[in-house]
Amino acid sequence: MRTVHSLRELRTILRGYRQQGKTIGLVPTMGNLHEGHISLVRKAAESADVVVTSIFVNPMQFGAGEDLDKYPRTLAEDQEQLEAAGNTLVFAPGVEEIYPEGLAKQTQVVVPEVSDGHCGASRPGHFEGVATVVTMLFNMVQPDLAVFGEKDFQQLAVIRKMVRDLMMPVEVVGAPTVREDDGLAKSSRNGYLSAAERKIAPAVHRTLQETAQAVAEGRTDFPALEIEARDKLSKAGMRPDYFNIVNSQTLKPATEDDTEITLLAAAFLGTTRLIDNLSITR
Ligand code: PAF
Repeated sequence: MRTVHSLRELRTILRGYRQQGKTIGLVPTMGNLHEGHISLVRKAAESADVVVTSIFVNPMQFGAGEDLDKYPRTLAEDQEQLEAAGNTLVFAPGVEEIYPEGLAKQTQVVVPEVSDGHCGASRPGHFEGVATVVTMLFNMVQPDLAVFGEKDFQQLAVIRKMVRDLMMPVEVVGAPTVREDDGLAKSSRNGYLSAAERKIAPAVHRTLQETAQAVAEGRTDFPALEIEARDKLSKAGMRPDYFNIVNSQTLKPATEDDTEITLLAAAFLGTTRLIDNLSITR
């Protein structure tokens, strides 16, 4: 497995694969890989001949006061895991490679409506940062398909709409969330949790499950259910950011008539912000 840091090297290698008629799968990541990321690599390898994993902590998607500086950078460990998972190529560019003129002068991609609300409301500019860097990665790698985790449900919806609206020739594949034994969704940010916080963290998944159960049993008073869920998170020792019951396609508040419903949750545990979601069909 090779690791390249420059766009020039990346393009030279990928040209060779394309000339051999090989298909290319891309797994965009910010590194500090865990089993969730590795499942994305394996999924890409099921459908593509060559798998490129990008590792880039994208400053454009972090807001002021967020964890950009402390976000874990663990390239050597990431490389080991990727090698074992059958990844072909790692693209790990520096910030100057991606934003040579700086962030302020960078053209941005804006994906309306699905970027609004939920994480988009709590983290202004976040999805513009994600859509911009993912567009650039698509242009740099020119993959046949790209795999993203369903844990970032709104991000996946933003990327799907962007690809549709801008007619990008990339198949977007979603991969299921990988969880710890107690239900906590795997996330690089779990590493920030203290031992005491780690014990509380499964409350997010538990609350999603209990609320989904209530919806499956016929409750349609969604705003009341959202309040109950936020109360549960608070009682568990978390500070809920949002708990929203939405139409799975539009991410707008669910109505009684919706059959595909997603529960979206974000909560702070100390200074760590955890997100998770659960989709149900009624
Ligand atoms: O999900 C992530 O890790 C990031 O948002 C992504 C898609 C790699 C873009 O920086």
